[in-house]
Amino acid sequence: MPEIDRGRLRTLTDRERVRFAERHPRSAAAYANAGHLFGRVPMTWMNKTAAGFPVYADRARGARITDVDGHEYVDFCLGDTAAMAGHSPAPVVAAVTRRFGELGGASVMLPTEDAAAVGEELARRFGLPLWSFALTATDANRWAIRLLRAVTGRPRILVNSYCYHGSVDESLIVVGPDGRPRSREGNVGAPTDVTSTSRVAEFNDLAGLERELAYGDVAAVLMEPALTNIGIVLPEPGYLDGVRELTRRYGTYLINDETHTFSAGPGGATAAWALSPDVVTIGKAIGGGVPVGAYGLSAELAGRLGGRTDLDLVDMGGVGGTLAGNPVSMAATRATLEEVLTEAAFAGMAEVAAGFADGVRAIIERHALPWSVSRLGARVEYRFADPAPRTGTESAACADAELEDFLHVYLLNRGVLLTPFHNMALMCPETTAADVARHHEIFDAALTELRG
Ligand SMILES: Cc1ncc(COP(=O)(O)O)c(C=O)c1O
Repeated sequence: MPEIDRGRLRTLTDRERVRFAERHPRSAAAYANAGHLFGRVPMTWMNKTAAGFPVYADRARGARITDVDGHEYVDFCLGDTAAMAGHSPAPVVAAVTRRFGELGGASVMLPTEDAAAVGEELARRFGLPLWSFALTATDANRWAIRLLRAVTGRPRILVNSYCYHGSVDESLIVVGPDGRPRSREGNVGAPTDVTSTSRVAEFNDLAGLERELAYGDVAAVLMEPALTNIGIVLPEPGYLDGVRELTRRYGTYLINDETHTFSAGPGGATAAWALSPDVVTIGKAIGGGVPVGAYGLSAELAGRLGGRTDLDLVDMGGVGGTLAGNPVSMAATRATLEEVLTEAAFAGMAEVAAGFADGVRAIIERHALPWSVSRLGARVEYRFADPAPRTGTESAACADAELEDFLHVYLLNRGVLLTPFHNMALMCPETTAADVARHHEIFDAALTELRG
C-alpha cells in the first residue's frame, strides 16, 4: 500500500474541523461558556474529541443521539459500552420511573428486592453464585482486589500490559521497551510506585505470565478475556485455558473483568468461551445507562471470606460505598437484564456486528490498506495493522492519532459517532443494518478522499 500522504491527511482533517465548527455553533458556545468547569467539561476525558471541542448532547434514544445544534447521529460509541442496551430503553425507563418516581427513594440505605433478582440472573449468566454491587466497574475491581489480597495474604496484582480496568492504581503498569515493568505514561498522582504493588505480563504470553506468577506473591490476575481498550486483542487458542491452569498452579485467584467483553454474549466471554474465573467484575451496560458495578464470587472464595472475622466487611474495611446497590441502580439493572440485553437481543446485535465487520473488511481491501478488523460479539474494531495485534503493546504501537482523528471527525460531520478513544463500533439492540450501511458509505468516502 502506498504510504498515507500525511500532508493530505492534515489538510483534510483541518477542513473537517472547520466544517465541524461551522455546523456546531451551540456546542461551541456551550463549551465557551463552561469557564467554571475544570477543562471546560464535566470530566476531563470529555476533551478527547477529534473535532476540537465536544458535541453537546440534547437527546438520546436507542442507537441515536441528537445534539444541541439539531444534528442526529447513529451512535456506535454507545457511551463506550455503558449504553450497549441502547439509550433509555423503555423497560429501564419504566423501572426507574416506578422506583424513583412512583415508589420513591434512591438512597434509603435499605435493600430492595430487585437486588436479589439481579444477583440470581448474574449468577445464572456468569456461573458465579454470590454477587455484590458498586456504582462503577472501577470500584467493583478495587473491592475485588482488596478481598483477594485479604484472603491470600499476598500483596500484588497482575494485569496485562496496556489493559484498562478503570482508574485502579494497581493496573497502571506496562511492559517497557526493555521488557521491564514500569508505570503507565501519564499516571496521575500514583500513591506508590506501581511496580511495587503490581506485576505485568503481555496478553497471549503464557511464558511471561508464568515467570511473574512464580514469584509467589500475586493475589490475583485481573484481566479481560479479550483486551478491548487498546483496540480489541483476541485470545489465541489455548491462552485462556493456560491462564486458568497457571493461576491455579501458583495459588493465584483469577478475576475476569467483563465490563466490555460482555459484548460477547449474555454471559460475556465467561459463558461464551466456557471460562471458570474465581471472580467476575462488570459494570456499565448491565445498568442500561444507570450507574452500576458488580462483582461475583465463587462459593469457595465467599466461604473463605465469611470465615474471616478479622475483616470488616460492614463498616470501615475499605470495601463499599453509601450509594452502592441503591434501589434505582438495582431496578435499572434488573430491567436491563430481564427485558433488554436478553439472549435474543445479543443474537441480533452479533449479526449486525458481523455485517459491520464484513463491510469494513471489504472496504479496506478495496482500498488496499494493510488494516485489520476484529469482532467480539456485538463489538467491532478496525486497527491500522494487519495481522491484528496479539498483545497490548503491539496494539498500542499501531495507534495512529492523526489518522484516527481524521476518520472520527469525518464520520462525525456526516452523522456517525465512534468511541473517541479508538476505532470501536458497538451495536445495541436497536442498531440496524441500515445504520451500518451508513457508516460504511461514509468510511468508504473518507478513504477515497484520503487516497486522492
Ligand atoms: C474493562 C473495563 N473495566 C473497568 C472499567 C471502568 O468502568 P467505570 O468507568 O464504570 O468505572 C472500564 C471502562 O472503560 C473497562 O473498560
